[in-house]
Amino acid sequence: MRIRRCAVLWLEPREVAHFELEALLGGGTGVVSNMQWYAHAPQLEAPQPVDVQDVTLLGEMSPSDWIDDVPLYERFGAQRLLTLLQAGLLIGDSEDCAGQRQADEHFRAQHWYGLSSVWHAASRWQGLDAAGEVAEAGMDTALGLRTRYGAPPPMLHDRGEAAERIPLPRSTHTPLDELLDARNSCRNFDTSNTLPQAQFAHTLERVFGARGQVHAAEDFDVLKKTSPSGGALHPTEAYLIVRRVEGVAPGLYHYRAGDHALQPLGLDADAVMAGAEKHVDNAKDKSALDYLAWIAVGGQQWFADAHVLVVMAPRFARNFWKYRNHAKAYRVAILDVGHLSQTLLLTATELGLGSFITAAINEVDIERAFGLTGYVDGPLAVCGFGVRADTMVTSEFDPNRKVWPRRG
Ligand SMILES: Cc1cc2nc3c(=O)[nH]c(=O)nc-3n(C[C@H](O)[C@H](O)[C@H](O)COP(=O)(O)O)c2cc1C
Repeated sequence: MRIRRCAVLWLEPREVAHFELEALLGGGTGVVSNMQWYAHAPQLEAPQPVDVQDVTLLGEMSPSDWIDDVPLYERFGAQRLLTLLQAGLLIGDSEDCAGQRQADEHFRAQHWYGLSSVWHAASRWQGLDAAGEVAEAGMDTALGLRTRYGAPPPMLHDRGEAAERIPLPRSTHTPLDELLDARNSCRNFDTSNTLPQAQFAHTLERVFGARGQVHAAEDFDVLKKTSPSGGALHPTEAYLIVRRVEGVAPGLYHYRAGDHALQPLGLDADAVMAGAEKHVDNAKDKSALDYLAWIAVGGQQWFADAHVLVVMAPRFARNFWKYRNHAKAYRVAILDVGHLSQTLLLTATELGLGSFITAAINEVDIERAFGLTGYVDGPLAVCGFGVRADTMVTSEFDPNRKVWPRRG
């Protein structure tokens, strides 16, 4: 068999803490830490713990040149090689290595910049009730944060005593200013009401719909949308968790930008609920769709209550086709999503709806529900929109009283 290393590998020397009774009985806290190597390979589910011999072996292996495995067996032993092959850190050309080899090849075909792919993979969450953890740590209030971390860096940035400052004229507000001032992050959706279909469709069309098309070259067509996109490639797809929309059955959908239509996607309730056992209190009384909405936004029920949640997931290969293995390309994909988000928030505001964005999302749970692959079309953020509630239960940031109290 011939072997090479997987496409991208980052070796992390991680400090790992664990509890030891002996250390506690010896008069300490019982917490002992030691160093452990972790191998990050973005096509794998999780980083793999490896030892120093593995590090030496992996460090010698080329990610491009295939070499005969016999000298490696002799130097490092069959068991070590087999373990690294099964883990997917080494890739073999034999039939029994086909699964890991296909994942590695699929990953290579996306043209990721190596460090970006490691960052992207390492920042994905699974099954995390982030809201619950923040609340438990008392960090869900300004006072809690201030007590724990001390004062933050100042609100305004002052570059020191300037000899001369140039005052600028104030502008006259236009309707765009009114719209911008009326936007705020909604954490109070009306769960007793449905969203009119016209407003649902309007928002999707405005934000994600195609407004024009250019034939740039053979097999290369480019869309015009209301938000900018690096290279005009518009890689971001909108996947919907529809909860309460007039005339649209609750469920999962893909928004088709070209013909402004919904593609229904099945919901595998058993697969969605498979991770729910560690959140029994929050999962009970929830349907699979309700649970998915809750876990998708990291346990933030105030966002899960939105009538529609929009998962924004770039098809990385569409962007990286042009910006091939490019150090800036992932940043551009993230910025694209940020622009789409602001267009969505302003559109919802104009329609009198509430809206939000969050990056505190459980990417892995979302990917499994929608049949996505993290390094191919992984979610970067979730937006939501819907009808606002009449009363505020979860706090919102509205110092200028543009939204609250609700006006009929
Ligand atoms: C990228 C991004 C992520 C955010 N994530 C969260 C979040 O996880 N939970 C939340 O309650 N608000 C989230 N927000 C909303 C901010 O808290 C909010 O924008 C901020 O408090 C200012 O309030 P405003 O949007 O009403 O002006 C996020 C905002 C942005 C831009």
